[in-house]
Amino acid sequence: MPTTARAFPNLTVVAHPLVAHKLTLLRNRATPTKVFKELVDEIAMLMAYEATADLSLEPAPVETPLERTDGWQVSGKKLTLVPILRAGLGMVDGVLRLVPSARVGHIGLYRDHDTLEPVDYYFKVPADAPERDFLILDPMLATGGSAASAIASLKRVGASRVRLLCLVAAPEGVARLQAAHPDVHIFCAALDRELNANGYILPGLGDAGDRLFGTR
Ligand code: PRP
Ligand code: URA
Repeated sequence: MPTTARAFPNLTVVAHPLVAHKLTLLRNRATPTKVFKELVDEIAMLMAYEATADLSLEPAPVETPLERTDGWQVSGKKLTLVPILRAGLGMVDGVLRLVPSARVGHIGLYRDHDTLEPVDYYFKVPADAPERDFLILDPMLATGGSAASAIASLKRVGASRVRLLCLVAAPEGVARLQAAHPDVHIFCAALDRELNANGYILPGLGDAGDRLFGTR
């Protein structure tokens, strides 16, 4: 399994120094829940800047106090954020700080502990999916099962412009998504080494949902 980002054309590793710094704090097992939540929020905001870099614009001329000049606005329907429950919820507010008018859908999935396959329990996104850009939010891309299932659900309702924002990705998950959904670009803060036998990312940061919500 290749472990360098160069092997994956659909992957962007956001290498900003602030992202690397905050991710290191996030990985630390001693980081308490409150700080963990703040860091996920901050990293999501920083990464959203990169993940929205190619949104299309349309002209929007503007009157300054002195004269009329050229201006621009993001074109089309509002961007739609789709956190995968639960851990993806921790990324929503950070992204909304940059894109406050974004809509928010939700996809409920959990990994079966034995098979590691995703189990669906909730799906709600805006009705006009074919006309929208979607940004799926989930801190962890491990086997890729959850993200692949979320993307398939979005495509079933007509979505065609989908990207994924995660914090830590495993090569196994990136490869699975690249095979199943080659049209979906992935943005992550780090491409880690591998999965362990229980499907956890190494070195990773542990169970993102439990660390965010203090459930372990
Ligand atoms: C975690 C994580 C992803 C999934 C990644 O969620 O937030 O959704 O695992 O694993 P995968 O790539 O192998 O599918 P989990 O199933 O633990 O649910 P939770 O967010 O409710 O804790
Ligand atoms: N889900 C997590 O929260 N962490 C992992 O390392 C893998 C899946």
